[in-house]
Amino acid sequence: MDHWQTADGASFLHKGPERNDPCWCGSGKKYKQCHMRMDERIRQYALEGHMVPDRSMIKTAAQIEGIRESGKINTALLDLVAERIHAGMTTEEIDRLVEEKTRAFGAVPAPLGYEGFPKSSCTSINDQVCHGIPSEKDILKEGDIVNVDLSTIYRGYFSDSSRMFIIGKTTPEKDRLVRVARECMEAGIAQVKPWQFLGDMADAVNRHAKENGCSVVVDVGGHGVGLEFHEEPFVSYVAPKGTEMLMVPGMVFTIEPMVNAGTAEICIDDENGWTIYTMDGKPSAQWEVTVAVTEDGCEILAW
Ligand code: MF3
Ligand code: CO
Repeated sequence: MDHWQTADGASFLHKGPERNDPCWCGSGKKYKQCHMRMDERIRQYALEGHMVPDRSMIKTAAQIEGIRESGKINTALLDLVAERIHAGMTTEEIDRLVEEKTRAFGAVPAPLGYEGFPKSSCTSINDQVCHGIPSEKDILKEGDIVNVDLSTIYRGYFSDSSRMFIIGKTTPEKDRLVRVARECMEAGIAQVKPWQFLGDMADAVNRHAKENGCSVVVDVGGHGVGLEFHEEPFVSYVAPKGTEMLMVPGMVFTIEPMVNAGTAEICIDDENGWTIYTMDGKPSAQWEVTVAVTEDGCEILAW
């Protein structure tokens, strides 16, 4: 999504707690034994003029555990789609499968009713970049490439991931695009480490796409996730190294670059107001994970 503001460094001027008081994160530990050093380090970056997260973007261990449980369900649902998807299946059938199984897990599909979205999943075929609406009319056929994007709410925690599926055998161009898009996501994940910047991750994604003659969509990106469907920060996959927000342990967001075979330009379906297409009609591919920044790298919470 494209409309979240990033926090500015100046907002990281929190007061307290005092060093011997309980930490703000609710761990029950003294502040000096919990987040105090991390907060000081963040403040240094803010003073140097970098964008830094505020406390609302730093999840506690208990919250991450909740998101992890939600993510396990989202991953299992995509595993199930992988088993069942086939030529001749409609995207409506995929959606029905997802909705039923989500409920069977005691969870809720996050897209359903989200800002009026009518279905439980997004299914984006060929030149559809994202936010394809499942339909009885869309019958998957040999050679199609399709992104199935699922988001789950479980016990109040949100997770978000998507995968590409190739229906039967496709063209070398589409086959390669699906592979390059996956490698872009992996290149991004490899750069998710505390005390680096989201721009370092974005630059790795964008560089890999360019090296392979592909382009990365600029106007739609990723987002923080976990306590809501879409949280700050907005996550770009084209920003330069050393820019964008500082990554710190406890941040949870998506890595979901949309990679196009041709131009990065996109347009929106004005009949349904949702589905995004490539401007040149060439194919687009996307893989998505939800990640948490850890002390020394990241953990994939939904795949
Ligand atoms: N994972 C997609 C996103 O974050 C799902 C959107 S659901 C929709 O943009 F309802 F917004 F389409
Ligand atoms: Co998303």
